Amino acid sequence: MTQIAGSSTNKRLHIDVHLNGDGILETMADDVRLGLSAPQKWLSPKYFYDDLGSNLFEQITVLPEYYPTRAERKVLEDITDGLMSHLRPAEIVELGSGSSIKTRVLLSAPSAADHLRRYVPFDVSEGIVLSAAQELLLDYPYLAVHGVIGDFEHHLSQVPQSNGRRLMLFLGGTIGNLHPEQRTFFLREVRSLLSEGDRLLIGVDLVKEVNAIEAAYNDSAGVTAAFNRNVLTAINRGLSANFEPDSFEHWAFFNEVESRIEMHLVPAKQQRVRIPQLDMSLTINPGESIWTESSYKFTEESIRRMLGSAGFHLEHLYTNNEPDSLFGLALASPAN
Ligand SMILES: C[S@@+](CC[C@H](N)C(=O)[O-])C[C@H]1O[C@@H](n2cnc3c(N)ncnc32)[C@H](O)[C@@H]1O
Repeated sequence: MTQIAGSSTNKRLHIDVHLNGDGILETMADDVRLGLSAPQKWLSPKYFYDDLGSNLFEQITVLPEYYPTRAERKVLEDITDGLMSHLRPAEIVELGSGSSIKTRVLLSAPSAADHLRRYVPFDVSEGIVLSAAQELLLDYPYLAVHGVIGDFEHHLSQVPQSNGRRLMLFLGGTIGNLHPEQRTFFLREVRSLLSEGDRLLIGVDLVKEVNAIEAAYNDSAGVTAAFNRNVLTAINRGLSANFEPDSFEHWAFFNEVESRIEMHLVPAKQQRVRIPQLDMSLTINPGESIWTESSYKFTEESIRRMLGSAGFHLEHLYTNNEPDSLFGLALASPAN
C-alpha cells in the first residue's frame, strides 16, 4: 500500500492507495484472462475507470438522456436536511465515490459542521479521488478526508476504523453493476463495516418504461459509446494489448428477463488481438461480442430482498416518483 499524507499546509488529507506501481488493480490480468476465455466474452466494468473513463462518466452524468444522476440528486436534496439532522453522522464513507459531486449535498447540510468530522471516499480511480479530495478540503474547512484507492470487491477491509456514527453511501446506481451473487457478497462485507446506529444509503435505479432506460445508455452524442470503448484502451495500457477500440461498436439494450441493461462491444469485422502480458492471442468474430457492463434495475420488493439477504433492514425507499426518471434512495440499517 502507498500512502499520501497531508502536506504541511493540509494535515486534514490522507490517502491510501491499493493499486500496483502502474496505477492499476492487481486483478486486471486474471480478470481479463478469465473473461476473454469465456464462451460469452466479458470484461469487468471496474476497468472502465481510468482517468479518461472517469472523465467520460462525468460527461455522461449531464447528458439529456441520462436521467439517473439528476433524478438521484433531486431525491438526495429532498431528504438531506432531515436525514443529517436526525442521524448526525460523525463520518461519511462513500464507496465508488467518483467526483463526490452529489455528496456535496450532504456535506452542505445545515447541521453537518456540528457533527460531521470525516469523509472517506473509496474508489478505484485515483485521479478523480485526489482532485475531489483537494476541492472538498478547501470548500469544507470542518472536514478531514481519508481517501482509499482500491477495489470495493477486494479491499473493503482497508476502510479505516470507524470514528463515530457512520453513514455509508453507495450512490449512482453502482450496485446495479454487480450481478446478484456478487452484490450479496459485497453487501455482507459492507454490513460488517457497520454497527448499531449506523446507516447505509444506497442509490438504486428503478424499473421503468424500457425506452427511457435504453435511451440513457445510447446517447445521441456518443459519449456512452466512447466510455464503453475506453475499457479496451485501459486494457491496452495495463496489459500491453493491441485492441483497436474504434473497430468495435457500442451495443446497449434492456434485457427484460434479467431486468438489466447490458452493454457490449461488437467488432465491425474480425479482430485478432494479442495480449503479451498474458501470453494470450484471441480472435473475435463479427456476431460475437464482449459484454462490458450490466446495470440492473430494481423494484421495492427486489431491493428489500437484496438488502435482507445481506443482513440489512430496508427502513425507507425514497423516490422521485417521475415515471421516465424513476430512481430511488434506499435507507437501510444493519439488522440484528
Ligand atoms: C456509476 S459511477 C458512480 C460515481 C458516483 N458515485 C456518482 O454517483 O456519480 C461508479 C463509480 O464506482 C467506481 N468503481 C467501479 N467499480 C469499482 C470497484 N470495484 N471498486 C472501487 N470503485 C469502483 C468508479 O470508478 C466510479 O467512480
